[in-house]
Amino acid sequence: MVPVQAKPLPTGPDSAIVPVKIRDGVDLEINGEHYRHTGDPQMPLLWYLRDVLQLTGTKYADQHGVSGADLVLLDGKAVSAITLPVARLAGKQVTTVEGLAGNDGTLHPVQQAFIDEDAIGCGYCTSGWLIAAVDLLRRKKQPDDDDIDQLPNLCRCGCQTRVRRAIKRVAAGKAVQP
Ligand code: FES
Repeated sequence: MVPVQAKPLPTGPDSAIVPVKIRDGVDLEINGEHYRHTGDPQMPLLWYLRDVLQLTGTKYADQHGVSGADLVLLDGKAVSAITLPVARLAGKQVTTVEGLAGNDGTLHPVQQAFIDEDAIGCGYCTSGWLIAAVDLLRRKKQPDDDDIDQLPNLCRCGCQTRVRRAIKRVAAGKAVQP
């Protein structure tokens, strides 16, 4: 067997080894956990949540986020996750529906109220309603029907009336886990 000769490394001004730049990442905080996304910075948050983190509670309904199924809290405000690129999340806190309950499993009062008022049909829209309700109750302690009807959420199962009751139940301080 003929020994293989190692090729000498090129020398001279054109031979400098140019390090490949590692793609910048985006530091994310989601439900209190820290992540670093080094993929496409324009990836919509919804796909990062569902496909990368397997947090599938937040739902896709349309590419413009008009149905409210894809809402998450960004620094406490409800925003559409399908229209929000990961690049815009540096230094922000994201809370998804999975992050609403306490670490000990205690449901958020809004979650408890939706159960108590049976405000869940097929459930596809529910995470969006929960996030929108948390945001609304942060902005307005005693929301009325008009406030609730102005939320962007759609429900094809016709739960709007029970959603109203659930949100008012929280406002009245009656939503606590037994
Ligand atoms: S519960 Fe089914 S779409 Fe709202």
